[in-house]
Amino acid sequence: MGMRDKYRKPTTFRCNAGSRCSMSAVVWSLVGFLLFLHLYSLFSHNGGKDGEIQFHSSHHPLIRELEQVEEDNIQIPPPRGKRSPRAAKRRPKRTTTLIDEFLDENSQLRHVFFPGMKSAIDPMNDAGNNSFYYYPGRIWLDTEGNPIQAHGGGILYDEMSKTYYWYGEYKDGPTYHAHKKGAARVDIIGVGCYSSKDLWTWKNEGIVLAAEETNETHALHKSNVLERPKVIYNDRTGKYVMWMHIDDANYTKAAVGIAISDSPTGPFDYLYSKRPHGFESRDMTIFKDDDGVAYLIYSSEDNSELHIGPLTEDYLDVTHVVRRILVGQHREAPALFKHQGTYYMITSGCTGWAPNEALAHAAESVMGPWETMGNPCIGGNKMFRLTTFFAQSTFVIPLEGLPGSFIFMADRWNPADLRDSRYVWLPLIVGGPADRPLEFNFGFPVWSRISIYWHKKWRLPSVWRA
Ligand SMILES: *[C@@H]1O[C@H](CO)[C@@H](O)[C@H](O)[C@H]1NC(C)=O
Ligand SMILES: *[C@@H]1O[C@H](CO)[C@@H](O)[C@H](O)[C@H]1NC(C)=O
Ligand SMILES: *[C@@H]1O[C@H](CO)[C@@H](O)[C@H](O)[C@H]1NC(C)=O
Repeated sequence: MGMRDKYRKPTTFRCNAGSRCSMSAVVWSLVGFLLFLHLYSLFSHNGGKDGEIQFHSSHHPLIRELEQVEEDNIQIPPPRGKRSPRAAKRRPKRTTTLIDEFLDENSQLRHVFFPGMKSAIDPMNDAGNNSFYYYPGRIWLDTEGNPIQAHGGGILYDEMSKTYYWYGEYKDGPTYHAHKKGAARVDIIGVGCYSSKDLWTWKNEGIVLAAEETNETHALHKSNVLERPKVIYNDRTGKYVMWMHIDDANYTKAAVGIAISDSPTGPFDYLYSKRPHGFESRDMTIFKDDDGVAYLIYSSEDNSELHIGPLTEDYLDVTHVVRRILVGQHREAPALFKHQGTYYMITSGCTGWAPNEALAHAAESVMGPWETMGNPCIGGNKMFRLTTFFAQSTFVIPLEGLPGSFIFMADRWNPADLRDSRYVWLPLIVGGPADRPLEFNFGFPVWSRISIYWHKKWRLPSVWRA
């Protein structure tokens, strides 16, 4: 999750990368020159092509359907006398926005954001025409008919069993506030694990790392916080290694935890917690590169920047190497992926459980420098795009056999009842020119655009499902 409200991003001017703030006059004049060139090229582009922007024309026909831009119009209901204290407190004097409606548990639009059990995705009974359809935001049932509990999750593809494993926070307990100013929370129950061959039908493999019920000094004591568990396989040691965000209820511990297992379905043994490189670490993820080197990426310095560094060969610790990236940009919920040698990352802003705008970033080297490209969300409506479809990034799944196509995994948090938080899975496509190529034109990389397409319902191409 996100942090408390005090980490809300102010709407003041920010520099896009820390280094750019301290440019010398010479560099500024170069920037001015580049700006001129860019405006000139924009102008001539518009003159030449009637202002049309061409996207993704080179893509595989199988994924064209996923790239269709789907609009979604949601009407805000007229204001009523009573609003929930939660929504009223957040924006006392402004007109009602969709975010207010989203955060208002009594909103007439509740069913739009959190549809009821009737419309649940039920792979065991949704045979026929509904097969393999993802419905972002709907309740998603496992093979036993229970809502999947794997929030802030990630996917491991296990080569040996040719099976996908989905790990996430098992949050099927009551939501409460530990004290007046505390964030909404659910006690640690553990890390849920689900297995699937098709990324749609998920079997509950149980809680693979459980909370500690009695020992109050243990990092996994239920009164603490366990978020964003991610698992990778170590080819050298043959172990499955889990990294997660470990914290106390006030988010002051700001540490990572590491657990290990011989099997993807656990049980995982908890090894220890630490502050990586001696720094605060809150939202985090791990990323295993093609060469077997794995990296930890975490929000640090009061969530104002991310840090990235390689893990040791056994994946059980960080090394002494670490870089600060996206300095001063206040990003969290990182999700990394790689395509054709370029590294990409989706992040969110820091607004607690409330949704905010996603950004895509790219780098030639995983250790950076990382450049911010812009908001990858397409379709829905403007509010959908400014709130990551009312969700927050957690992972990006590569789809073998469909190069350039991925599934973007996000959490639609429900702070009134966290166990009822939903999953928003959408197609993510790498391709086409980036929105903001200006900064990178002269000798710098011209990144591909990252696009996450809104769909009310969608499914993977039939070749992939077979
Ligand atoms: C499934 O789709 C086909 C073709 O669109 C349609 O003819 C058929 O009635 C549908 N079946 C069900 C059970 O909805
Ligand atoms: C409680 O947990 C701490 C930290 O993991 C450990 O050092 C201690 O031995 C545990 N105590 C008991 C009674 O298990
Ligand atoms: C969290 O903060 C509250 C209020 O400041 C305090 O009462 C409580 O003891 C703190 N809890 C932990 C685990 O630090």
